[in-house]
Amino acid sequence: MSDLSNKKILLGITGGIAAYKSAELVRLLIKAGAEVRVVMTPAAQEFVQPLTYQALSGHRVYVDLFDAEAESAMDHIELARWCDLLLVAPATADFLGKMNAGYADNLLLTLCLACKQPVAVAPAMNQQMYANASTQQNLAQLAAKNVLLWGPAEGEQACGDVGQGRMLEAVQLLQEVERHFSPGRLAGLRLLLTAGPTREAIDPVRYISNRSSGKMGYAIADAARRQGASVTLVSGPVALPAPQGVKLVNVESAQQMYDAVMQEAEASDVFIACAAVSDYRVDQAAEHKMKKSADTVSLQLVLNADILAAVSALEKRPFCVGFAAETRDVEKYALGKLQQKNLDMIAANLVGEGGQGFESDFNQLEVFWPDGRQAVGPASKTEVAKQLIDLVAERYTCARS
Ligand code: PMT
Repeated sequence: MSDLSNKKILLGITGGIAAYKSAELVRLLIKAGAEVRVVMTPAAQEFVQPLTYQALSGHRVYVDLFDAEAESAMDHIELARWCDLLLVAPATADFLGKMNAGYADNLLLTLCLACKQPVAVAPAMNQQMYANASTQQNLAQLAAKNVLLWGPAEGEQACGDVGQGRMLEAVQLLQEVERHFSPGRLAGLRLLLTAGPTREAIDPVRYISNRSSGKMGYAIADAARRQGASVTLVSGPVALPAPQGVKLVNVESAQQMYDAVMQEAEASDVFIACAAVSDYRVDQAAEHKMKKSADTVSLQLVLNADILAAVSALEKRPFCVGFAAETRDVEKYALGKLQQKNLDMIAANLVGEGGQGFESDFNQLEVFWPDGRQAVGPASKTEVAKQLIDLVAERYTCARS
């Protein structure tokens, strides 16, 4: 977790039920070392008393544009100058509309206009209100004015609806603030990643696939995003939620994965092939469900294109990281693939044995590059992914310097 000491956060709270989550956010920001001042709109005070934030922030809460006492403590222009970041959380649909239109009829809106520092908003509203074209237009226009949009998340809402519009949790907003102040080792880089299995159709209802759950690849996508990369994840069919802040491209077959990757590869700085791609596909998938007839049936399989080898062979190629899933002689096979596919790095894992590799929440890697190697784990896939991304950042910097 990064250190927010000496960072001054002005937290604006508008009138939504998610205002209660901002109390926790104040606590977390202060725990991370930030100095926090809170500004509330009149509507916000209908949900939570200013005293709550005053007790948590250790400072008077600013509520009124014409509050003489507050003005003498720090007037609104001074407050706008004081902060390193103005974060409005929750930001209601009404507030976002007024902010986009440049209204200044309460203290927080005035601050948004007067603030030269970065301004971030955490939208929070009913899913239908969020989906409404006016809200979407307001958000798009705010983004075009360099307002940072953090969230919203999807899920159950206070009104009983389910959908997109929930404010991010306090801990997620803290992470956004931390990322904002320390952009990460992969900041500015485009990282393309494959994850999960592929499915090769036998007929319209059957397919050939493998045990990949996508957990390793999704953890890598998240770790790379946390290090500031702009991540495109090409994923085979998995039962995992879409990782936040990542462009997700869903595919099914190896050919579809190949097409999706090749579209993005040349524009990417780093490519990590974590998917368990079917080496073979059925030559002629049946048009209709195959009927049970003979005692034995033969399927003619043909080789799929190797996605990683194709990316690595591009003239304008990204830094290429492969995986090797082996059940024996891990090092020998991994080094073979490193060389044959002309890779910058390869992460080898032993699969098919006790509690790691496919499906598991744990993994252990031996990472090789042309003149070095490093063991990663055993640890949770989240931790393994973090360490792998650190290593990728290190090797990428070496390779490009
Ligand atoms: O998804 P999980 O359940 O979390 O499991 C994680 C994992 C075990 C799948 C993962 O850690 C892993 O090892 N992924 C690579 C699996 C694999 O297919 O390895 P391979 O040794 O067969 O392939 C070598 C490399 O070539 C891999 O980077 C693979 O993505 C790539 N490849 C293979 C065939 C092909 N047609 N195209 C490819 O890009």
